[in-house]
Amino acid sequence: MTVAELPGKAMLAPMADFTELPFRLLCRKYGADCSLVPLVSATAITRSESYFENIRVAEKENAGLQLFGAAPADFGIAVERITDALPFVKWLDLNCGCPSPRTTAGGAGSRLLKKPKLAAAMVARMKRSGLRVSVKMRLLPKMEKTLEFCKAMEKAGADFLIVHGRTEKQGYSGKADWDSIKKIRERTGIPVVGNGDINEIALGRKYVKEGYADAFMIGRAALSNPRIFCGKKTEGIEDAKGLLREYLALCNRNDFLEVNNAKLVATQFFRGFRGSAGMRLAVSKAKSIEDIKVFMQ
Ligand SMILES: Cc1cc2nc3c(=O)[nH]c(=O)nc-3n(C[C@H](O)[C@H](O)[C@H](O)COP(=O)(O)O)c2cc1C
Repeated sequence: MTVAELPGKAMLAPMADFTELPFRLLCRKYGADCSLVPLVSATAITRSESYFENIRVAEKENAGLQLFGAAPADFGIAVERITDALPFVKWLDLNCGCPSPRTTAGGAGSRLLKKPKLAAAMVARMKRSGLRVSVKMRLLPKMEKTLEFCKAMEKAGADFLIVHGRTEKQGYSGKADWDSIKKIRERTGIPVVGNGDINEIALGRKYVKEGYADAFMIGRAALSNPRIFCGKKTEGIEDAKGLLREYLALCNRNDFLEVNNAKLVATQFFRGFRGSAGMRLAVSKAKSIEDIKVFMQ
């Protein structure tokens, strides 16, 4: 795959429990080129036909869908079902980065970094869908091993890599290592999307311009500021209320009215300005969407 064929240059990172459909659409509205639906279990899809009721993907969001698991046969079944049930999914991603014990206990997520053969077998099954396939990964402690893993993914048919510049052990501590992301880009034959600690769009663009990556993905900084993709910041309480209004309108329009999720997302908008802590606390106590609406006035 060529760099021009990537789904975009500025991508919204998958963040479980946060980046559901309305939030992804909000970021898209403000300039995210694409997003990735977070962590869907390949094995769970094989066990329940009704699993897709919980997953919403709209055409205009230009989204990929991320799968996790450790059983290649399940991926074969899962991808067939996905292409039938979710026609708007633009590409598939294999999670090789999640360090959470809930994921790694079954050998999935970041544990796959040490099992390139197993990860390669899953990429190969995903490729049978006819969709493009990416691998979202972390760094291994040694660059040599990281490159071995990247090359195994490339050989298995991965179309591009998304690299979060931290190791499994680091979790979210320390700084993302963009020099290592650059080395990966220089030593592999497929496009590399860099990820980690981008707190403004200009920084992402700088990394691309200076050859660190072919595109970039923004995670946490977009939660409090979904307008990061067009270079804007939340200026104060009225601005945050405006964002909340837009977000709730998207929830409404898309029939996505899950109060706990809306609360989680909404509290993030009230960050970084005077009075935001009080608003955050108040929003977190909401018991219904109607309760949350009070804070947009
Ligand atoms: C709350 C939260 C949930 C996340 N969920 C996922 C996930 O489901 N899949 C995944 O690949 N990464 C997940 N991540 C990692 C992010 O996609 C991203 O790689 C990481 O936050 C580093 O980027 P950032 O510094 O821009 O936030 C999550 C991160 C956070 C903070």
